Amino acid sequence: MAQLWGGRFKGETDALVYHFNASISFDRRLLEEDIEGSIAHATMLARQGIVTKEEADAMIAGLREIRDDVRSGRLAVTDVYEDVHSFVEAVLTERIGDAGKKLHTGRSRNDQVALDMKLYTRKVIRETRGLLHNLLDRLLSLMEAHLDTYMPGFTHLQKAQPLTLAHHLGAYFEMFKRDALRMSDIEKRMNTCPLGSGALAGTTYPLDRAYVAQLLDFDGPTWNSMDSVSDRDYLIEYLSAAATIMMHLSRFSEEIIIWNSNEYRFVEIDDAYSTGSSIMPQKKNPDIAELVRGKTGRVYGALLSLLTVMKGLPLAYNKDMQEDKELTFDAMDTVRDCLALFTGMLETMRFHRDVMAKSAVNGFTNATDAADYLVGKGVPFRDAHALIGRLVLYCIDQNTSIDALSLAELQAVSPVFEEDIFKAVSLETCVEKRLTTGGPGRKAMEEAIAAGRLFLGKC
Ligand code: ARG
Repeated sequence: MAQLWGGRFKGETDALVYHFNASISFDRRLLEEDIEGSIAHATMLARQGIVTKEEADAMIAGLREIRDDVRSGRLAVTDVYEDVHSFVEAVLTERIGDAGKKLHTGRSRNDQVALDMKLYTRKVIRETRGLLHNLLDRLLSLMEAHLDTYMPGFTHLQKAQPLTLAHHLGAYFEMFKRDALRMSDIEKRMNTCPLGSGALAGTTYPLDRAYVAQLLDFDGPTWNSMDSVSDRDYLIEYLSAAATIMMHLSRFSEEIIIWNSNEYRFVEIDDAYSTGSSIMPQKKNPDIAELVRGKTGRVYGALLSLLTVMKGLPLAYNKDMQEDKELTFDAMDTVRDCLALFTGMLETMRFHRDVMAKSAVNGFTNATDAADYLVGKGVPFRDAHALIGRLVLYCIDQNTSIDALSLAELQAVSPVFEEDIFKAVSLETCVEKRLTTGGPGRKAMEEAIAAGRLFLGKC
């Protein structure tokens, strides 16, 4: 047990308390950020004449050495220390002597940990944007390749109207595009530097907070030292955006599971992204999609947990806030893995165009178009709706489809039908005539894809 704060204490910390209180087992993940922040702090301390240039140089060289030694495995981050901050300071002092003890001048672990978490989260946000970019790029390529892969569109999981795979995938493109935008927004809002806020009330040392902020690539320092050490809004925003990404991935996974089922057979997930059964030799299960769907729960849980941790905390720092780390790190890892795996699964998946097209023809997906045909011939829409409804009933009775009926059969329902009805209700017409912006017709889709490419070029 090695503590930074032993001076005031007479007795030893209870062993169980020590472990309950310690955070090194998980905050060791912040080592690189902790060192980056300390280097900036030391640089500023020397510039302000608070420590000498020689002292700062020794601190900086020592900090870099610790970072390199941990990276290469020469130095292990051990549980003897309470947290990553204590570990770095203790090893530094061990290595460079008294100068190491001056590093914490004008700083508290409260502003230090606030900085470390911000630096780490900013890095993760950038990584997440990169992963979303890959997924969006993959989706756009698939959309380009499937402009005329017809499939049924569903509402209530009942066949509704025909569309294309490009159009269906385009819906997910929009969702993940918003996710990427959300990440950028969060980064903009959180990009202020808390270092120099001290424990809660700033410090009497003449720190140059703007300079530290600049060194660490922030837009500037934060404006209230109490808020700086107790703000976890950016984590809550990140977790909320992460939960939304997972919700999108989960919906997509659910669809892939359905499409990959023996009944649908719209797609086949590659062997590399499937698993088998220990008892049923025929099985090839969509476990990755199921796990992505399942893991959504833990990310939602992280968001709810942190909101709950924060809700009753008086200003400023309270130890409860240490609870922000494990759950956020877990959510960060989950989102990273799910995005990467999902993109790989999508990349290697085979789409059965013929099965999809066949499914789009069955199930009266052209009923709306048949009604619209009558409207085109002057029948009021409500009457046309009723006439086609009768026609559908007739087809169900005869076990056939609208496009397979003879003209005589059609005219028995309405004399308005003419020979051109067959073209009007063909799968191709039903899709290609839907040209409103955002619709599945080729021209509309090409415009949407061009807009998507433009977005990707900028993000
Ligand atoms: N491990 C602590 C955390 O994660 C660091 C800050 C400790 N500050 C304190 N006053 N005990 O929140």
